[in-house]
Amino acid sequence: MTSLPSPGSSAGYPGASMAPGGETAGRKPSEMSARELYIDLLIRALPNILYGDAPLPGRIRRHRFDLAKRWTGVDWPSQAHTMVGVERLRNLATLVQSCLDDKIPGDFIETGVWRGGCCILMQGVLAANGVADRRIYVADSFRGLPPPQVDQDAGSRYHQLHQLRISRDQVAANFEKYGLLDDNVVFAEGWFRDTLPALQADRFALIRLDGDMYDSTMVALENLYPKLAPGGYVIIDDYGLDTCRHAVTDYREAHQITDPIRKVDWTGAWWRKVDPTSAIGRA
Ligand SMILES: C[S@@+](CC[C@H](N)C(=O)[O-])C[C@H]1O[C@@H](n2cnc3c(N)ncnc32)[C@H](O)[C@@H]1O
Repeated sequence: MTSLPSPGSSAGYPGASMAPGGETAGRKPSEMSARELYIDLLIRALPNILYGDAPLPGRIRRHRFDLAKRWTGVDWPSQAHTMVGVERLRNLATLVQSCLDDKIPGDFIETGVWRGGCCILMQGVLAANGVADRRIYVADSFRGLPPPQVDQDAGSRYHQLHQLRISRDQVAANFEKYGLLDDNVVFAEGWFRDTLPALQADRFALIRLDGDMYDSTMVALENLYPKLAPGGYVIIDDYGLDTCRHAVTDYREAHQITDPIRKVDWTGAWWRKVDPTSAIGRA
């Protein structure tokens, strides 16, 4: 399906011709299917492009909604259900849809969910396709980031940020707001180091990593990448952070992974695990 912009497309950036309210990715609403329009609306609702809440105080000097910052996922919203911007949300929806269209087997997971928006979007894409036999794993401590565990994370202060502590009940409540909480949503609560090795899932179609730190990224890759189906996708939200990018580089080098990394925006990146037995993922 080609309804959403291709992964990595910059279509829809504010100020361009496809600003919110007009065409989407160069297409008129009347040319889009109900499924496409639903997913597009989710992508606008999850970061609260619709009502425009202010950013959390502290990180951004001006305490009012800025469409360009929200669109590109630069601010930390006070109310919205994700801090991931529109470009990365479109990329996520596009890749989930690609897994379904290409019949890549397996479940979906995000490691590091905050208020849950990316997992809600994945569940929404499954629902919009009538898919009921795949799971969405929602992996988080639900109490923020851990203190640094390895030298590569030395000096990190993310664990002190109370803004990153969102409870499991709050994330479940956010799923419910969209009418998307069901038995296929599986919460993996605790530190990745403890929860990811114990996951029941045998196979993933897509893994989305958003744990910011070297160790959080490395632990997720070590435990999830071997379960990623050929033709499946890895999304790295924090490739713009040195810590995260170093973990990705170290893991890829250690496992001789050469599948090309594609950039989404200033921080998002992804690659597809090439299937050696088919043409899938070679394009
Ligand atoms: C930047 S936020 C994720 C943003 C989210 N993906 C979104 O859509 O807005 C990082 C999250 O990772 C979680 N996290 C990071 N490292 C972790 C670890 N080692 N174990 C469990 N949770 C972790 C934090 O609790 C936090 O919710």
